[in-house]
Amino acid sequence: MIIKTIKELDAQLAPYRNEGKTIGFVPTMGFLHEGHLSLIRRAKAENDIVVVSDFVNPTQFAPNEDFESYPRDIVRDEELATSAGADFIFHPSVSEIYPEGSSTFVEVEGDITKVLCGESRPSHFKGVTTVVAILFNIVKANKAYFGQKDAQQVAVLLQMVRDLHMNIELVVCPIIREEDGLAMSSRNTYLSDEARKQSVVLNQSLLLAEGVFNNGENSTNKLIKIIADKINEMPLAEIDYVSIYDYPSLKVITKINQQALAAVAVKFGNTRLIDNIILKRI
Ligand code: PAF
Repeated sequence: MIIKTIKELDAQLAPYRNEGKTIGFVPTMGFLHEGHLSLIRRAKAENDIVVVSDFVNPTQFAPNEDFESYPRDIVRDEELATSAGADFIFHPSVSEIYPEGSSTFVEVEGDITKVLCGESRPSHFKGVTTVVAILFNIVKANKAYFGQKDAQQVAVLLQMVRDLHMNIELVVCPIIREEDGLAMSSRNTYLSDEARKQSVVLNQSLLLAEGVFNNGENSTNKLIKIIADKINEMPLAEIDYVSIYDYPSLKVITKINQQALAAVAVKFGNTRLIDNIILKRI
């Protein structure tokens, strides 16, 4: 069922809250794919009621980014989300979330929001934390589900929840991939046929580095070079970053001791794709 207002969502959820039922929340920007559906299924397995938000959040897009053209299809989203187990699809207008005169932002400061995607998208995470904090206040869920594909977003949101003592558990779910390894993303639909073929290099380069890491290589510089060289084999690929940081602190490291995040952002024409892998010593 699609719900457009906070008042209506409150009214629908009130009986469940009164009965002490648990609410799982899956925040999305819509145009759902298998990655989102896996979050919804997990939420359904772990909660009585599942709320999915479907809201393209303007504050996380810079003026030169794809807010207007971001793909939207609420009819298809409702069908997919419901079949995966969603009970309510919260699809508010921009003015429902940011009423006239709203001027409060939630911002996680420090390197965690400045490195990786924060470098080329300096205002992005401020928009994400603001909307997620607003949505958490509206839905009042027990658990919220996020994909590891947005590894930096996960790190930033974990920090926000900790710092603001938010009473919600974040559940981080594995990256869902196409058969050839490309991480699922609503932006994959922008790729030309040739770019789509070449985009498999993101996953391939990370797996290559993982193999070298598993054979004993600890140097972040060496592993970064292996990833970058592999990506550069693809003529249409333009690297935005290839980085390795401690995870989830996102602190700079030169050697991997316990656990690190290897993350890439690569442009194919105007389409910027991200992917990552956790490198872990067992
Ligand atoms: O990951 C996303 O789709 C968005 O950043 C989120 C968490 C729904 C906030 O708009």
